[in-house]
Parts: sequence; structure tokens; C-alpha cells
Amino acid sequence: MIGILDSGLGGLAVAQEVRRLLPLADLRYVADQAHAPYGDREPAEVADLTRGLVDGLIGAGAGLMVLASNTISAAALHRLRADLPGSSFVGMEPAVKPAVAQSPGGVVAVLGTTATIRGPLLADMIARHGGGATILPVALPGLVERIEDGMGDAPDTDAFLADRLEQAIGAGTDTWVLACTHYTFARASLERVLGPGAAIVDPARAVAQQVARLHDLGGEGRADAVTTGDPDRFARQIESLALGLSFDSVGAA
Ligand code: DGL
Repeated sequence: MIGILDSGLGGLAVAQEVRRLLPLADLRYVADQAHAPYGDREPAEVADLTRGLVDGLIGAGAGLMVLASNTISAAALHRLRADLPGSSFVGMEPAVKPAVAQSPGGVVAVLGTTATIRGPLLADMIARHGGGATILPVALPGLVERIEDGMGDAPDTDAFLADRLEQAIGAGTDTWVLACTHYTFARASLERVLGPGAAIVDPARAVAQQVARLHDLGGEGRADAVTTGDPDRFARQIESLALGLSFDSVGAA
């Protein structure tokens, strides 16, 4: 069984790509909505919360786990791999390298949570893969909450993004990296604000491809989703996202 985890809805963007590539894999999605958003928390706290989710997934039979969150991956991936050598983990990192490679004008903005934008992983990615490009890291605190509240595609979110991205747009950014999995669910709003010329780099599919390389291809296509928050609200949130993935059950973690 493949375990996929995030603080909330963001990892569902990765889960639907995993389902597309592995229709027969058994999946369990865990959302820690009782503690979301993670992006405003200290990395050590995120690592501890993540360990709790991972232990639950291992107990449920997961051998391969996907940290479907940039914030979680930066805070917890190394320690999980060191502490749990019997399990496999796929994590995420800001897609600076492909964005720089495809940016026509060499101006790239990286959009993420406060933790991701301030953290050492992004600084390292920029140092290693930034090349001669201008990289503009932009934290968007509040956007995860909007998406959790079903407002990822609301007109009000267009205004929110237009305001926060004004400087990066003015600097001539042509390529935008989604370095938070939640932001996939604000993509339509982002496209309206950025206009047709902007390229948006979303690593969800690349992460799913990595999962497919590691998975043994067994399973019966089952999927369930659990949350540490309110399961009824979670079921409604999943429904409203109209994912390319359906769950056999949605319940309490
Ligand atoms: N979806 C997550 C990420 O990719 C975490 C969002 C949050 O809880 O702040 O960073």
C-alpha cells in the first residue's frame, strides 16, 4: 500500500497523479488538518507531526510513503529515511532546476509556504540550480487556508494573488514554480492573474513518476482517505475538488 500525506488537501494533487499512473495501487491518503497549516510552524514541530502520521501509515501496512508536501519534505525527509530504513519515502523539492531550464528570460519566481521560502532547502536548490537566472522566492501565507476553505478559485483569490505577486510580475517573471502542493488548487486563479504568457511549473506529475518507479505494481485499486480533522468536512472538500481519483471511504485518522 502507498501512503500519501500532507497537512491537508494539497497532497491530493499528487495522489491523483499517482492514481493516473498506478490505477491498481492501493492508496491511503492522510491529512493532518487538525494541525494545518504546517507552513507557519517550526521545522522540528513539522517533523514530529509527520512522524506521527508516518507511524500510523506503517501500522496500516504502507511500505512506500509519499511526502506530498514541500514543507513536510524539507522538515522531515532526511530524518525519516535515517530513522526508518525499512520504509521507502518519496519527497518533494522546489522545481528550480526545470524552471530555470525552461525560463525564456531567466526570471523565475518560487511560490511556497513561509517555511519553504525561508528554509535552507530552497536556498540550496537556488545555489545549485539557479545558474545565471534571477530567482524570486515568494511566500504566500494565507493561501493554504483559502484553499482549505474552498476559495482556491474564488475571485477574491485573484485579488489576493495579484497583490502578493505584483513585485514578481513587475520584475519580469516568466516562469512560476508551485513549491506548495496546495497551490495546484489555485492554479486557475493564478493563470488569470499571470495571463497567458506565464509558464507554471507543477512537480505533482514528476513526483508521481518517481512513485511509479519504486512501486511493485501490486494492489487492487483501493483508496481511502483519513483526516485528523473533521471527516465530514474533509469528504465535502474532496468532493468539491472534483479530482481524477475517488475514495472508497473518507474517515477519521
Ligand atoms: N501542502 C504543503 C506544502 O506543499 C503544506 C501546506 C501547509 O500546511 O502549510 O508545502
